[in-house]
Amino acid sequence: MEFNKIIVVFTAVFLCYLNGAFADKPCAAWPVHGKSVVCVCNATYCDTVSRTSPTAGTFVAYTSSAGGSRFKKTTGNLQPAAKLEPGCGTETLVLYPDKKYQTIEGFGGSATDAAGINWKNLSEPLQELLINSYFSNEGLEYNTIRVPIGGTDFSTHPYAYNDQPENDVKLSNFTLAYEDYQYKIPMIKAGMKVATAPVHVIATTWSPPPWMKTNPVYSGYNRLKTQYYQTYADYHVKFIEKYTGEGIPIWAITTTNEPTNGLTGLCFGINCLGWTSKTMGKWIVNNLGPTIRNSTFKNVKILAGDDQRLTIPYWINLMVREHPDVLKYIDGIAVHYYTDFIAPAALLSQLTKFYPDKFIISTEACQGSMWFEKHHVDLGSWPRAKGYIMDIITDINHGVVGWIDWNMCLNFEGGPTWAKNYVDSPIIVYPNKGVFIKQPMFYAMGHFSKFVPRGSRRIKVAGACSWGNSISRVAFTTPRNTVVVVLYNDGGTRKVNIKLGDKQAEVEMEPQSVTTIELPNSSS
Ligand SMILES: *[C@@H]1O[C@H](CO)[C@@H](O)[C@H](O)[C@H]1NC(C)=O
Ligand SMILES: *[C@@H]1O[C@H](CO)[C@@H](O)[C@H](O)[C@H]1NC(C)=O
Ligand SMILES: *[C@@H]1O[C@H](CO)[C@@H](O)[C@H](O)[C@H]1NC(C)=O
Ligand SMILES: *[C@@H]1O[C@H](CO)[C@@H](O)[C@H](O)[C@H]1NC(C)=O
Repeated sequence: MEFNKIIVVFTAVFLCYLNGAFADKPCAAWPVHGKSVVCVCNATYCDTVSRTSPTAGTFVAYTSSAGGSRFKKTTGNLQPAAKLEPGCGTETLVLYPDKKYQTIEGFGGSATDAAGINWKNLSEPLQELLINSYFSNEGLEYNTIRVPIGGTDFSTHPYAYNDQPENDVKLSNFTLAYEDYQYKIPMIKAGMKVATAPVHVIATTWSPPPWMKTNPVYSGYNRLKTQYYQTYADYHVKFIEKYTGEGIPIWAITTTNEPTNGLTGLCFGINCLGWTSKTMGKWIVNNLGPTIRNSTFKNVKILAGDDQRLTIPYWINLMVREHPDVLKYIDGIAVHYYTDFIAPAALLSQLTKFYPDKFIISTEACQGSMWFEKHHVDLGSWPRAKGYIMDIITDINHGVVGWIDWNMCLNFEGGPTWAKNYVDSPIIVYPNKGVFIKQPMFYAMGHFSKFVPRGSRRIKVAGACSWGNSISRVAFTTPRNTVVVVLYNDGGTRKVNIKLGDKQAEVEMEPQSVTTIELPNSSS
């Protein structure tokens, strides 16, 4: 080939690349009777999604729906904004990019033992496709992972580190477990390798070794013995040391998973450690806080709470009243999803009001965990995707900076879980069939994680018509100098105008659908 031809071919290929003309692979849909579709990935085929940068005067929209669309990409030209008239004909949402709220930290999932076991049980090509699906630029671009410190209910057996010897104040036998080396560390590192941003890892203890507890079992009513307060703080530093040594820096720790579980003795049969707000405050102020801040890992963030929205902010307020110095040590407050259907989101706004310099992050959520739910794994369930979308929109509109899903993948029954606490996951694996499937929840996560990168700011978006409130929405400016809006339409087909300055994007929404729209931020 002549040099000129090479240049032409090269340029053509490069332009195709820029245009995203190396087309996305669509969902290989398996319809599920009476449900939405699931998307099937085998060793040679898995759907992908690329983000197209909107050029001046255009917008790009991505839609997923109960009807079976998955990241359906459309582009359009921005139109001169219509005059807003009373009782306007088409629903219009007005963006206010100068009215900025919290900065977004990230979205992600959890590297539990169960997730790692299921992942490793897939063939190598499928393992790679699963990781790419979550982390790479052809996937959801997750930038956050929560990792348990030791075992959880989503392990094949309960365990902690330094279980033996007992009463070992110095933690002389602290080593990582088989599960860390075989499953969690490889899974996290595989994610870090293809991620499009630094992956922030949040580590959490469910239960310390039983010998540290008043009732020496993993689950059930129990407290930390006071003589082991410092040991339990050191336990966290040892974990951070070990993971950092394996090439996985820890961005944050939480102060124990769901501390009210072990307090009530309920525990739901899962690994737990009970704390009152008073004892927790004392431990943070006297042990955990000073230990972390005096260590090599003094910049690791400390997240208090890590419990249901229902108990927060009451629990945090009590803790701060009893031990005001807690505020010197904590950086943020972590909340869980499971009581959101009874706990008003206004509770989150109270936190922002009381503690304006602490961020709020949602650290755990899954579907299918309730006793009244017939199916733990519900293939093709659109309501479960909608549940995620509505919760994320509500959380972010009440100040939350990030949202982390629970197990990144589970098997067909929603495990393994030694505690028989079977639940759903955005990815379900079928190693004997050589496939994994992506539930609608997978796409629910991606409508936020892929398009709202770390450093984005939530902005004001308001309905201009009296019925403009019927579409759920949240909007952001991004570090890519764009504005991103995520909309959920629970009704039938409808038109929506997204107004930014003197231009508008005109979007037609499918029934029961989520749409992410990205447009240039002309205002900045
Ligand atoms: C993998 O999936 C693709 C798309 O659905 C299909 O065309 C192909 O036959 C599948 N391969 C195998 C080995 O099943
Ligand atoms: C140290 O822990 C390992 C398990 O990680 C255990 O097999 C061994 O017995 C422990 N050593 C002592 C001295 O207890
Ligand atoms: C470091 O530890 C000392 C006591 O050992 C304590 O007085 C001090 O407050 C700690 N530093 C921080 C930043 O917590
Ligand atoms: C791995 O998958 C096979 C099916 O191919 C299943 O029988 C086995 O229980 C799985 N192993 C684990 C550890 O889940």
